[in-house]
Amino acid sequence: MKHVISPLDLTVQELEYILTLAEDMIAAPDKYKDVCHGKKLATLFYEPSTRTRLSFEAAMMNLGGNVLGFSSADSSSASKGESVADTIRVISSYADICAMRHPKEGAPLVASQYSSIPVINAGDGGHNHPTQTLTDLLTIKKLKGRLNHLTIGVCGDLKFGRTVHSLIRAMIRYENIRFVMISPEELRIPDYLKKEVLDAQNIPYSEVSVLEPVMPELDLLYMTRVQRERFFNEEDYIRLKDSFILDNKKMKLAKEDMLVLHPLPRVNEISTEVDDDPRAVYFEQAKYGVYVRMALIMTLLGLEV
Ligand code: CP
Repeated sequence: MKHVISPLDLTVQELEYILTLAEDMIAAPDKYKDVCHGKKLATLFYEPSTRTRLSFEAAMMNLGGNVLGFSSADSSSASKGESVADTIRVISSYADICAMRHPKEGAPLVASQYSSIPVINAGDGGHNHPTQTLTDLLTIKKLKGRLNHLTIGVCGDLKFGRTVHSLIRAMIRYENIRFVMISPEELRIPDYLKKEVLDAQNIPYSEVSVLEPVMPELDLLYMTRVQRERFFNEEDYIRLKDSFILDNKKMKLAKEDMLVLHPLPRVNEISTEVDDDPRAVYFEQAKYGVYVRMALIMTLLGLEV
């Protein structure tokens, strides 16, 4: 039985299989409409979500399966003090597969150690978000046509941004990837990622505090939100929240085929005027999240059509 806790829990070959399966689901969704008949997905969300939870649920419904779960810790027995380990032991007898989001880094990993069903990390604190990464990779593959030879700008909260952490881990496995990290000094990517991941594998990257000068060199710009919920101090959040705002003026500096991705939700870091630019693909990206989660569920359950 396989769990997906980190993006590295899937080999490049497994990723390729899932992305190809997702592309086939986009092309011929009817082929898959009964493949999970009689199966149940549990969505255990201890932290708010719109896209991840609902796209997991839509994915299971598209496959002909059923869903059960909770959307906040308050509406589960976690509010009475139940541990993740006890919860997953019980859920293992109610469902066939589970997606878990938790504010504490490592909670889905703990769950996987006590689970008898596959556990998918749907985001753990500021750590990892592997199914967002699958969504990002499918978006890049479909709309850019390749996963290699890319200069990727990642902008915003790189310290707490789990989507960025997972994306970096996944993308460095492809040839000729370079990162431009754009963030305020306080929100730089964590040292462990620099040392253990980027430096250890000689991945080229630069760190800058201003977006405009680097715009012309980017093939992809991955924007992220400054996350209020990760700050201990409201004053720091207010000081940093408007550090980067992508608008049409800045988009004029970019390549004609540069794509703008964002895991969403957006607050104000992308001005709504950018939504009409054909290079802004974040809503399409969110749509791909359903297909890639369908492909992941099928793969982890060992199902084929
Ligand atoms: N991208 C993402 O994780 O969105 P939600 O927080 O709405 O699930």
